[in-house]
Amino acid sequence: MYIGIDLGTSGLKAVLVDDDQRIIDEAHAALTVDRPHPGWSEQDANSWLDAADAVLAGLAKRHSLGSVGAIGLSGQMHGATLLDASDKPLRPCILWNDTRSADEAAALDGDPQWREKSGNIVFPGFTAPKLAWVRIHEPAIFEKTAKVLLPKDFLRLWLTGEHVSEMSDSAGTSWLYVAKRDWDDGLLAATGLDRSHMPALVEGSAVSGKLRSELAAKFGFADNVVIAGGGGDNAASAIGVGVATPGTAFVSLGTSGVLFASCPSYSPDAQTAVHTFCHALPDTWHQMGVILSATDSLEWFARLTGATASELTAPLKTLRAPGRALFLPYLGGERTPHNDAQVRGSLLGIEHLADRTAVAQAILEGVVHAIRDCRDALAKTGTTIDNLLAVGGGSRSDYWLNAVATSLDVPVSRPVAGDFGGAFGAARLAMMAVHGVEQQYLTQPPVEAVFEPKADLRDAYTEAHGRYKEAYRTTRLVS
Ligand code: XUL
Repeated sequence: MYIGIDLGTSGLKAVLVDDDQRIIDEAHAALTVDRPHPGWSEQDANSWLDAADAVLAGLAKRHSLGSVGAIGLSGQMHGATLLDASDKPLRPCILWNDTRSADEAAALDGDPQWREKSGNIVFPGFTAPKLAWVRIHEPAIFEKTAKVLLPKDFLRLWLTGEHVSEMSDSAGTSWLYVAKRDWDDGLLAATGLDRSHMPALVEGSAVSGKLRSELAAKFGFADNVVIAGGGGDNAASAIGVGVATPGTAFVSLGTSGVLFASCPSYSPDAQTAVHTFCHALPDTWHQMGVILSATDSLEWFARLTGATASELTAPLKTLRAPGRALFLPYLGGERTPHNDAQVRGSLLGIEHLADRTAVAQAILEGVVHAIRDCRDALAKTGTTIDNLLAVGGGSRSDYWLNAVATSLDVPVSRPVAGDFGGAFGAARLAMMAVHGVEQQYLTQPPVEAVFEPKADLRDAYTEAHGRYKEAYRTTRLVS
């Protein structure tokens, strides 16, 4: 058996998978995000360890874990977990959707070596500018920083006692020379760091260490369990749904929204604001457009109305033409295509008749328009998409997937019920760490439903997307 652990933003999830890749059980523990100031987003790194301890204890209660051969890790990307010389977190982790370091990011991005080596814009959400921010605003903490780890790699440190990362997540730090799959000394030096602050690097499908004997004894594992490199949550999800060969792609409607495509080679085009990163397998690459608030936008409206996200969307059955109300999901700024930390969301075109459902519909549509912007940005790099798998919590909504299919004019397939996301992808990487990279670990899941574009609504979606783009320009002026 194998275990995949996905350290998400709103919760940590583990799946127990048998040798035939069937999910036998899963366990989940909720996590909270702190937003102490506008644009900030933080999490207590120790809460991840408590969550991992709880889910492993849950699995151990229901199953004997003695035949687990390997554990794989997936996790929210870009977070800066700063550790002192005894591996204690020095401050709350600064998360992927935190934009406080916009000025530092712009300053780094102004030096051409960053885009040239990292292949990407230095976005405020990436790790390096966060360290530049800490260096200026919390110098005592910067001085004490002995290691900088990504969230799932802090979990790995707890599991193995080793400082190790892998390529797909490390590509999102801005310190990785992405074409070389190695840390870059010049980029590290530009933020006052060197290799000693960085974890060792392995490929996602390789062994990164061995489970500590204390934890093996606590949960009933054998004493030779290995931990695979794993992947950033998007690369791990891609492995979970078999998006690893050129021409395959998925849309993820989770806390963030992602349009992800596997690439034939490393071909970055930073100015499009598309992310070009290492994939979780050796010598493979991917591109993605990332929006910061997908289901997070609906969750925001749910908090406002006191209804749950599924209550809000329940009345939305047959796909309609976009309504007059227009929602821009820039609640915490935006990455692709704007690289704009300052912009904020807006809700426009509200009329007397606009009820809760009309606004919920506008929110789903706003996210779809933002994903369409990502599709257009990917097209500028030469990456075209002609079909999509859908993953993430939002993919349970037929309405949302019909809208994505119609707006992007591609069929969208939803895998059968079950979890083919980051945790399952991590479990597959665990299998590969034991058995090697084999095609059987890269198959696509059976499809439960295919959402075809609705030809009669295509023009209406295109017209609404035009209004959305215009609204960004206006919103930019006032937010
Ligand atoms: C990707 C990104 C998000 C997080 C969410 O660049 O920032 O998708 O990985 O967990």
